[in-house]
Amino acid sequence: SNSVLSVMELTKEPMTVVPKNYIRPDQELFALSDYSTLTTIPTIDMKKLALGETSDLELEKLHSTCKAWGLIQLANHGVSSLLLEKLKHEIEEFFMLPLEEKMKYKARPGDVEGYGTIIRCNDQTLDWGDRFYMTLNPIQKRKPYLFPKLPSSLRNTLEVYISELQKLAMTLLGYMGKALKIEIKEMEELFEDGMQSMRMNYYPPCPQPELVVGLTPHSDATGITILHQINGVQGLQIKKDGVWIPVNFCADSFVVNVGDVMEILSNGAFTSIEHRVTVNSDKERISLAMFFNPKFEAEIGPVTSTLSPRNPPLFKRITMEDYVKDFFSRNLNGKSHLENMR
Ligand code: SIN
Ligand code: FE2
Repeated sequence: SNSVLSVMELTKEPMTVVPKNYIRPDQELFALSDYSTLTTIPTIDMKKLALGETSDLELEKLHSTCKAWGLIQLANHGVSSLLLEKLKHEIEEFFMLPLEEKMKYKARPGDVEGYGTIIRCNDQTLDWGDRFYMTLNPIQKRKPYLFPKLPSSLRNTLEVYISELQKLAMTLLGYMGKALKIEIKEMEELFEDGMQSMRMNYYPPCPQPELVVGLTPHSDATGITILHQINGVQGLQIKKDGVWIPVNFCADSFVVNVGDVMEILSNGAFTSIEHRVTVNSDKERISLAMFFNPKFEAEIGPVTSTLSPRNPPLFKRITMEDYVKDFFSRNLNGKSHLENMR
């Protein structure tokens, strides 16, 4: 039934105990209401990167953070707060729509795109969140019943946001390339006119947050992911050196994930970190993840400049086409996708 697809719908009824199929005994969970005293991820300042003098230091910081943390907090990203306010408003409105409106975008059997959780089998363990995943670029890959059919004010705001983030992503990828001594040309050839997609997430409050996950542990299969925590509610955790750490960050910065493709291109110099989302008992959490990938026709593998006799290639070369096929044939499961690329 429809209600199974939407946690938001499920939580409209008073509830003290979560249904069994959401319980995750496999996860060492701890619910936190206060993230403010926790580990903060190093901040990379886009303005400093662009500046002549200090840029070498900032570039080094970018390199060391992508290596040690696999994600960065991106400050001074240049996306206007006015646009972000509008986006927040539009996305909140969207999730507040009646279920039957949202179900127009329902994920269809056998497809990963659309609204809601895809139910594969009866005893499937479910994440405590509603999501809406869709392809954005190349434009001809947009599903006609998804992006073009969104409420026009959301669509228009998203179009602006997408183009702003595209510019930001290309600039940042250029700096990441520079930090790895990869020619800018090489990065452009891979990522210009690349594949882009997005996922909007809505995690309702949960009566037993210590028993569920909002999003199953995974590493991003992307080049990079730019995550915007729409309503400022924390919940992201990373697995660093085998331990789950909640990460705290500022509301006005983006979180950028190093994805599996970047780990491959950098021959392991950058780390695609495993992460998950936890939920809490009193606040809903809304986020928007934008995924940036090389173009479909590209071939990926460790870039020559990252290789030496002491650094032989750790990953095989593969076309993006085959890479994507392998990814969608799996369920989210830690770093298993990347491991298959060795
Ligand atoms: C989120 O923080 O809500 C999403 C994280 C992710 O896409 O992995
Ligand atoms: Fe992710």
